[in-house]
Amino acid sequence: MPQVRGSLHERSVVGEGVLTSGFTRVNGALVCEGVPLARVAEDVGTPAYVYSASVVRDRFSRLDAALAPMPHRIHYTLKANSNRGVLRILREMGAGVDVVSGGELQRALRAGFDGSDILFGGVGKSERELREALEAGVLMINVESSAEIRLVDEIARELGVIAPVGIRVNPEVTVESSHRYIKTGEKGAKFGIPFDEVREAARIAADLSHTQLLGLDMHVGSQLFRLDPYVDGTERLVELLGQIRQDGVDTLRFLDIGGGLGVSYDDEESPDLSRFARALVPRIQPTGLTLLMEPGRYIVGNCGVLLTRVLYRKHSGGREFLVTDAGMTELIRPSHYDAYHRIDTVQPSAGQMTADVVGPVCESGDFLALDREMDEAHAGDLLAVHDVGAYGYVMASNYNSRPRGAEVLVDGERFAVVTAREQYDDLIRLELDDPEWRDS
Ligand code: LLP
Repeated sequence: MPQVRGSLHERSVVGEGVLTSGFTRVNGALVCEGVPLARVAEDVGTPAYVYSASVVRDRFSRLDAALAPMPHRIHYTLKANSNRGVLRILREMGAGVDVVSGGELQRALRAGFDGSDILFGGVGKSERELREALEAGVLMINVESSAEIRLVDEIARELGVIAPVGIRVNPEVTVESSHRYIKTGEKGAKFGIPFDEVREAARIAADLSHTQLLGLDMHVGSQLFRLDPYVDGTERLVELLGQIRQDGVDTLRFLDIGGGLGVSYDDEESPDLSRFARALVPRIQPTGLTLLMEPGRYIVGNCGVLLTRVLYRKHSGGREFLVTDAGMTELIRPSHYDAYHRIDTVQPSAGQMTADVVGPVCESGDFLALDREMDEAHAGDLLAVHDVGAYGYVMASNYNSRPRGAEVLVDGERFAVVTAREQYDDLIRLELDDPEWRDS
């Protein structure tokens, strides 16, 4: 079945004239805010990721406003898009961040975030990463096992600090998500501490001399549209909080409900934030804790397109192929999660076609879209692959020794390259011409 979709123009602006995608057509040509995408491609080349600053600002403000009825802080999840240009926008708006590696911690610090703005999570933090997090004075380290709690305490003792610890709970709730790879909060997942072991983990943390238990945390999955997993999970966290307090631990300050809010890639309805807040705030407010959230995709998912050029059009085995200069190395979501991303021609197109849009990588799984009904395109045409602001560039690879494309930020009438296109030299920069051989 070919996939049939409405035109971009119909869906770029909804209700109250609110810009939801930042991308519209002017005289038929695609523009990002005030900048024609063809102009960006001409200046910067392809493939290039183009992000709209106003979409990022808009998404952050909406979520922040929805949570306004109670003390809260939004810790943007760096893994979705860790570009410094994007981070700067969010820092200016008052966001904190959520990081999951020493590398992301460095990025956050270099983007000007203070330790106290940073949550540190992740299922497999190394000793070095934990040390770096403590040295940076992060707000909270979300631990995922009792062994990790003990290790954090040991490192904190060596450093002479008290480790601020949150427990990542696996609330074991039912999660509906677009792909099984992006569910995390069901029973048996590798993430978090199993629900019925959390009380014991909290006792361990409370008894340690260099650890302070500051919070409970969950993240149940990604690209979620239903409220139930949030509500069920929050109720489970609140229940645990009661038990932990009964055990005499009264140091908790934060309830972190993770990320996961879904965005529209096609015709999905974005979650209704006021319903979301109405469901969660009354459940969390009575605890007296500050609500933390770690959204990634919701903030940046719809802010960007991948600009790519059609290299060849060919026909084979009854199928029409558009071979583009971007593929799974630039956007792995279609091949890895069967993800749908809208694709339009940048310039007005005369008709429609059904095509497989495939990349140049030597893999049959290298595609951006299969059997897609789309604007008619020819060799040399520019295409925009939509909604690549989250999990696009950050999941790019150098497979086939392909240099990563540029990242461009648009703000009003202006645009800037915020990450330069990689060059061939970058690909071999770390390889040693004359390696030092060591005896065994
Ligand atoms: N917090 C934690 C602990 C997480 O693991 C994640 C995402 C988030 C927050 C942010 O989730 P978001 O709000 O972006 O849904 N690469 C996949 C998505 C993987 C999500 C991993 N964790 C994709 O392209 O769909």
